[in-house]
Amino acid sequence: MALISSSDRPLSFGLFFPRKPPSAGSTMTRLISEAPARSNIELGDVTYHNLKQLKKINTVVLPVSYNDKFYVDVLQSGELAKLAYYNDVVVGAVCSRIDTSENMRRLYIMTLGCLYPYRRLGIGTVMVQHILNCVERDGNFDSIFLHVKVDNKGAIEFYKRFGFEIVETKQHYYKRIEPADAHVLQKTLTKKAAVAAAAANSSNTTSQHHNSSDEE
Ligand SMILES: CC(C)(COP(=O)(O)OP(=O)(O)OC[C@H]1O[C@@H](n2cnc3c(N)ncnc32)[C@H](O)[C@@H]1OP(=O)(O)O)[C@@H](O)C(=O)NCCC(=O)NCCS
Repeated sequence: MALISSSDRPLSFGLFFPRKPPSAGSTMTRLISEAPARSNIELGDVTYHNLKQLKKINTVVLPVSYNDKFYVDVLQSGELAKLAYYNDVVVGAVCSRIDTSENMRRLYIMTLGCLYPYRRLGIGTVMVQHILNCVERDGNFDSIFLHVKVDNKGAIEFYKRFGFEIVETKQHYYKRIEPADAHVLQKTLTKKAAVAAAAANSSNTTSQHHNSSDEE
């Protein structure tokens, strides 16, 4: 299983709890208190063997249920789908895919969630950051987007931290859940080609400027 350890990331992704002071308890108590104190967040691949864990996480965390085709497709997603582990226990997951509708190449976050007792520990951040790293490495996406229920204030606040904005509200987006409306949250990206073109343009302008100053 390819794991991405939070220890490779900035310290803000890792969590450190103070070591318990040594106590004169039983051997077992001493062993527990002497266990590594660091809490670790890691991402791992979705495989045929842990697919049921992914389904369980999505069922518990999200208001929408997904069919078998969804999960078959996720198995082919590579880095775009990950399970999140907190001290070796699966507690969250992200599933995304490439969307080429509307003459654009966009990354669509289909699901992202973390079990309730493990929220506000940085696990969602590690998952979003992983997806942002994927799109940045690729360098050829117009934007990254997702749907979120209009009353899901926590998720909206969460995504805004990463530069996502509400760009549209879709009425009656969800079936059988209330409220049925969804916001589209989107983060616009700059393609590598556009960055290179802008850099070339600016260096041309600079060299033209130098040339014309030479002539004076
Ligand atoms: C949204 C969600 C993924 C966030 O995961 P998480 O692991 O709790 O997020 P993090 O701990 O990385 O939070 C990072 C920051 O986002 C913001 N944030 C996260 N949850 C928030 C909430 N409920 N309310 C306000 N701000 C929130 C905070 O600024 C937080 O930093 P802080 O804890 O230092 O204040 C999680 O709440 C969840 O699983 N929700 C249910 C599923 C869902 O709604 N998914 C989104 C649609 S795909």
